[in-house]
Amino acid sequence: MFTLGIITISDKGAQNLREDKSGPAIQEIMEKNNFITKSYIIIPDEQEEIEKQLIKMCDQLKVDLLLTSGGTGFSKRDVTPEATLNVIEKEAPGIAEAIRYNSLQITPRAMLSRGVSGIRKDTLIINLPGSPKAVRESLEWIIPSIQHGLEILKGTASECGSK
Ligand code: MTE
Repeated sequence: MFTLGIITISDKGAQNLREDKSGPAIQEIMEKNNFITKSYIIIPDEQEEIEKQLIKMCDQLKVDLLLTSGGTGFSKRDVTPEATLNVIEKEAPGIAEAIRYNSLQITPRAMLSRGVSGIRKDTLIINLPGSPKAVRESLEWIIPSIQHGLEILKGTASECGSK
C-alpha cells in the first residue's frame, strides 16, 4: 500500500467557479489500485503557492506519490512544471515521456502538455494534464510501473536487475 497526495491546480477550481472533476478522478483510479489518499487540495496557478504545497506534501505529509493535475499547458498562467522542477531533487523524465507517448496515440494535443516528473526525498511527483479525460488516459498506462518505481524508491523492491 502506498500513500497519495493530490493537488489540483486551477484558478477557477480554487475560486469555486468550476467543479474539480480531475482530483476525484485521480482519487478513484488510484484507490482502486490500493493507494491511500492522505490529502487532496485545490490551489490557484500561483508558482509560489504550488511550490509551498508540493514541499508540504513531500516533507511533512511524506506521501509516497504526489499527483498534480492542471497548469501544464501553454497559458501564461500555467506554471506547474516550473514549480515542480524547482522542488524536485532528481528528474524522472521517463514517466512524463511515457504519459505523452501513450496520450499521443489518443490525441495529437497531448504534445501540448509540458508536465514533468521527479523525486523529492521519498516522494515521486508526477504532473498530469488538467482534464478528467486526460487524467484517466495518462494514469491507467503508468500505474504498474509507478508501483515498481515506488518499491525501488522505498527499498522494498525485489531484484529487477537480475532478470
Ligand atoms: N493528454 C491526454 N491523454 N488527453 C487529453 O485530452 N489534452 C491536452 C494535453 N494532454 C489531453 C492530454 C491538451 S488539449 C492540453 S492544452 C494539455 O494537455 C495541457 O493541459 P493543462 O493545461 O490542463 O495541464
